[in-house]
Amino acid sequence: MPLARSLSVTSLSGLEEWDEEFDREDAVLFEIAWEVANKVGGIYTVIQTKARLTCEEWGENYFLVGPYMESSVRTQVELIEPCNATLRRTIDKMNSSGCKVYFGRWLIEGSPYVILLDVGFTAWSLDRWKSELWENCSIGVPWFDREANDAVLFGFLTAWLLGEFAAQCDEPPHIVAHFHEWLAGLGLVLCRQRQLPVATIFTTHATLLGRYLCAGNVDFYNKLAEIYHRYCLERAAARCAHVFTTVSQITAIEAEHLLKRKPDIVTPNGLNVKKFSAMHEFQNLHAQSKARIQEFVRGHFYGHLDFNLDKTVFLFIAGRYEFSNKGADIFLEALARLNYLLRVNHSEVTIIAFFIMPARTNNFNVETLKGQAVRKQLWDTAQTVKERFGKKLYESLLVGQLPDVSKMLDKEDFTMMKRAIFATQRQCLPPICSHNMLEDSSDPILNCIRRIGLFNSAQDRVKVIFHPEFLSSTSPLLPMDYEEFVRGCHLGVFPSYYEPWGYTPAECTVMGIPSISTNLSGFGCFMEEHIADPSAYGIYILDRRYRGVDESCNQLTSFLFQFCQQSRRQRIIQRNRTERLSDLLDWRYLGRYYVSARHMALAKAFPDTFIYEPQEPTSATGFRYPRPASVPPSPAHSLHSSPHHSEAEDEEEPYDEDLEAEKDRVNIRQPFNLPNRNKNHTVVNVTPANSMS
Ligand code: UDP
Ligand code: G6P
Ligand code: GLC
Repeated sequence: MPLARSLSVTSLSGLEEWDEEFDREDAVLFEIAWEVANKVGGIYTVIQTKARLTCEEWGENYFLVGPYMESSVRTQVELIEPCNATLRRTIDKMNSSGCKVYFGRWLIEGSPYVILLDVGFTAWSLDRWKSELWENCSIGVPWFDREANDAVLFGFLTAWLLGEFAAQCDEPPHIVAHFHEWLAGLGLVLCRQRQLPVATIFTTHATLLGRYLCAGNVDFYNKLAEIYHRYCLERAAARCAHVFTTVSQITAIEAEHLLKRKPDIVTPNGLNVKKFSAMHEFQNLHAQSKARIQEFVRGHFYGHLDFNLDKTVFLFIAGRYEFSNKGADIFLEALARLNYLLRVNHSEVTIIAFFIMPARTNNFNVETLKGQAVRKQLWDTAQTVKERFGKKLYESLLVGQLPDVSKMLDKEDFTMMKRAIFATQRQCLPPICSHNMLEDSSDPILNCIRRIGLFNSAQDRVKVIFHPEFLSSTSPLLPMDYEEFVRGCHLGVFPSYYEPWGYTPAECTVMGIPSISTNLSGFGCFMEEHIADPSAYGIYILDRRYRGVDESCNQLTSFLFQFCQQSRRQRIIQRNRTERLSDLLDWRYLGRYYVSARHMALAKAFPDTFIYEPQEPTSATGFRYPRPASVPPSPAHSLHSSPHHSEAEDEEEPYDEDLEAEKDRVNIRQPFNLPNRNKNHTVVNVTPANSMS
């Protein structure tokens, strides 16, 4: 028997130590997900942001496996010849047996190798594979469920790939295959059923039943026919895996009850955190992006720009369109209440709430496009008049005369300006929705807005814009990508009811934008666990677990109202604090859970070769960011310890952002010896608190 190699998880406090203990030359890692190079939701973000770190660790022995989607491949993947002989033989063999398998580099950070399987091309095998699935696993997949059919094809192709790869290896290989979510899970089940020499990991990013049940009455009966067999696929994968993981403690509890397996490890989702050399760089980016959003708003509200854009706060919610799971329902209700509060308090603040949730449309609507055209025309007119004015001024100065200001603009200039102003007249209110909706009359957001009456009228202090398409920098309407847009907003609002992790508030955090999440979201619970006073850091966590809907709605309204009362200075301080939490969400630290899962899987699949040594919890376990010590950002708190700053004072008082940030930083960092952002990373010890093993 070969000498067993120790895979100590103690070494996770420094990833480099893994090198000394484990020769990765003879191990290969495949990571399989339907969202590899195929953007749907958060799973894409997991894979895409983690790629750089995993490539650093596994180098040439790391392969992502996903579906072949022509449009994504055209823009994201460079197709190349397979990088090694074993893989070339594997792919050639499959392609000569009626498959279409592509190999390439995914053009993202880390440039990982991708193997893309064309499921459509092997659709002719569907019936045969479904029969096999029924005979071997007693799972029957009905003909009408397109997504489940894709899962069957993808699963069989993945198992084929792994089996063929193992067969093509000269030496017995050590393969780790990490499968994400039920859509990829069947490949894992087949690997076990065929007894392939593969260490398997299954990570679920939600449970199917959890998602359906939480969505309340939304189309439950029409979805019934597609639930059971999908659930069977998911449960089989969870139960067959050597190692089962999920993304948060809250989903771990759910999995234990609904999938009947307690996850071995919780693998929280991280991000690729960008470090700027200047501390306030992200604040500048906020100001730049905000200016672009303001430009859009000028066009959208043309003819109704009776509010002060400098005192306008931008809120947004974004994500897949699951109306109540994502909390769009209570956000709208809270906006209606906030509108009332701002009106009765005669607040000068205006709120613009963006809803970025893709729905079925047939393009932008004319009124919205016209808004931007009108704005552009006003801008062009102003430029033309400015040029003519400038020329006259110049000519007058050339002959040594001060200009006669009353003659600087002539009749033609006035006509041009009047015509431009006339064009801004509008018979209707600024539109709520930027697109023509295909299901306008049954759309949940639009119907809710109709019920609560937030129609962008002049009296409304809260305005709403529904953009039912993900953002893109090539949009003719709002040409910004999602990241730029988030940076320009003031607050992300994600009051989800069902949210295993929730990348959207995490992304806000690393960009220094405060957010609202909930104690039912993986992210919210994770932040609650690691920060003593989350709201001081701009992490507002709504209680949706122990309060009724109406109460949660009131709490949300009060968070929003408090936020609106902050001065600019308070917002700036708060953003500094929010951004400082980025380390907590960096893959550099959170990636260790994945390392741990792979170690555990190798030890379970190849017990003669590998031993897994779990780490004992230490006293450093579960550190918490303490309450910040400098000026508290919320007006309510600032009454006790610091003078309240009005907007007027903000403008007068010079404010050194870096100095203020540094004051806070010193206060927070010293007692806990947290990593210094400007030095090379040291690892924050958050590991054992989350380990369920
Ligand atoms: N997202 C995007 N463009 C948008 C809005 C959202 O790319 O206009 C992304 C966002 O960056 C996030 C993902 O969609 O990474 C949503 O992930 P999350 O975990 O919040 O929710 P999921 O959709 O997976 O339930
Ligand atoms: C950043 C910029 C400041 C700007 C501020 C606006 O901090 O560095 O120059 O004044 O953003 O903040 P606000 O919250 O009003 O958008
Ligand atoms: C799922 C969940 C989401 C999570 C994402 C990535 O789609 O809905 O909450 O962030 O997966 O794990």
